Amino acid sequence: MNLLISIGGMTYVYNEFMRILFAVWELAPFLKVGGLGDVAHFLPKEIKNQEEDIRVVTPFYKALRTGRQKRVKVDSFVVWYGGRNVKIDVYQIKFLDADVPVYLLRNRKYLDVPGKDTFAVFGLSVARLVQYGVEGWKPEIVHGNDHHCGLLALVLRAWKVPVKFLLTIHSMMEQGKRGKNLIAKMNLEERWFHLVGWELKDRRINSLLEGIKWADVVNTVSPTYAREIRSEEYGAGLDDILRQEESKITGIVNGIDYGEFSPEVDKTLGQNYGVDNWEEGKYRNKLHFQRKWNLRVNSSIPMIGFGGRLASKQKGVDLLHKMMLRMNLSKFQFVIVGQGEEEWEEKFGLLGDFYPKSVYFAGKFSDEVERQMYAACDVVLCPSRYEPCGLTQMKGMRYGCLPVARATGGLIDTIEDGVDGFLFEKLLSVDMEGGLKRALQIRKDRPEEWGRMVRTAMKKDFSWKRSAQKYLEVYQRILR
Ligand code: GLC
Repeated sequence: MNLLISIGGMTYVYNEFMRILFAVWELAPFLKVGGLGDVAHFLPKEIKNQEEDIRVVTPFYKALRTGRQKRVKVDSFVVWYGGRNVKIDVYQIKFLDADVPVYLLRNRKYLDVPGKDTFAVFGLSVARLVQYGVEGWKPEIVHGNDHHCGLLALVLRAWKVPVKFLLTIHSMMEQGKRGKNLIAKMNLEERWFHLVGWELKDRRINSLLEGIKWADVVNTVSPTYAREIRSEEYGAGLDDILRQEESKITGIVNGIDYGEFSPEVDKTLGQNYGVDNWEEGKYRNKLHFQRKWNLRVNSSIPMIGFGGRLASKQKGVDLLHKMMLRMNLSKFQFVIVGQGEEEWEEKFGLLGDFYPKSVYFAGKFSDEVERQMYAACDVVLCPSRYEPCGLTQMKGMRYGCLPVARATGGLIDTIEDGVDGFLFEKLLSVDMEGGLKRALQIRKDRPEEWGRMVRTAMKKDFSWKRSAQKYLEVYQRILR
């Protein structure tokens, strides 16, 4: 950050880095469970590119894959939990592709595998790290993510650690509810916990609620989701609280990494392409995909993709399945890349077995197949019930694969209906089918218009640079 200081009529530029600690429970490329893992990788990397001093802290799970990356033990301390001293070892490692220090917190009992005590111990440990510093470094802002960092916000306040706290909400559905006995285990007084009416009933602590209450600023991963969660429909029981805290909630859309996700440079594609030769590029990638996965080889057949977790509660895969059953599958091709709920893996697997020339189901999520899918497909479907931000529509657009998406959350903020994609309103498979038909009609009857839409989508700015600048503005505002 550059500060302009005026002394005696002269202006001096004073260069000082903001010191930010990014706390998160999953971290690509070492461990990725969902979209948050990607955010944790690319956002700090971009903030570092913009010359701020950001570091990351995460539990050192047994499952974390750091490869041959060098890691150094830099600290060791104890926190008091469950009536005894718990030893925490701190390792430092760098991201494979960026100069961002990552602190990995190790404790075999509590941090090897996420369990009911993990985020209480994580909260105490990160607070300890912030209070005393690590490698002679102390952050001035802690940027926590989701309910996993809610108790961290509370501990920082209860211990009166002089640091600002930003909480980013990637999902309201998981709230980290825990038994009240955690308060004693954490050696804290009950008065620090917001045990509101409904919680008293089931006598549970709500970690996300604590995070929201104790944070200086809260943001979600899109402005629309930031508004939606103040309603009963999307607030998952916390809408009252979110309405009370309205003034401190903002929304910032995520980005995608252009070094990774660009059809011009993507090494996994049979043929690279850009805005100027998208037709030729997509044509070749489609034929390549059809041959590779034994679909009927035909460049004009509409190819429709879906990428993501097979989670019916969020991603609306039930709608997708219902629509597929209704459609004449000899006239379309479907590519589904995702894994998740067993029921849906089985159902899409069966469709693939029954219609091998029209349906390809990659039952194991693969980053490579997903990218090849965007390069080959004409349309990507996003029938989400709710969507805090969503990455697949942005990736699709980057590859000239237009989204047909439900008008909710981040999908509204990233897609302009009829300009670079298509939105449908109701959570119904017939509405999605309507949206899809609208898209395919333009593709068939008005190819120039389709081409214009594809180029507009490919050129849209979803870079992390743009998002990171917005986060920097929030950090600066908090520090003021
Ligand atoms: C969660 C949300 C998704 C968002 C991602 C990263 O997975 O469901 O919408 O894109 O977090 O913020």
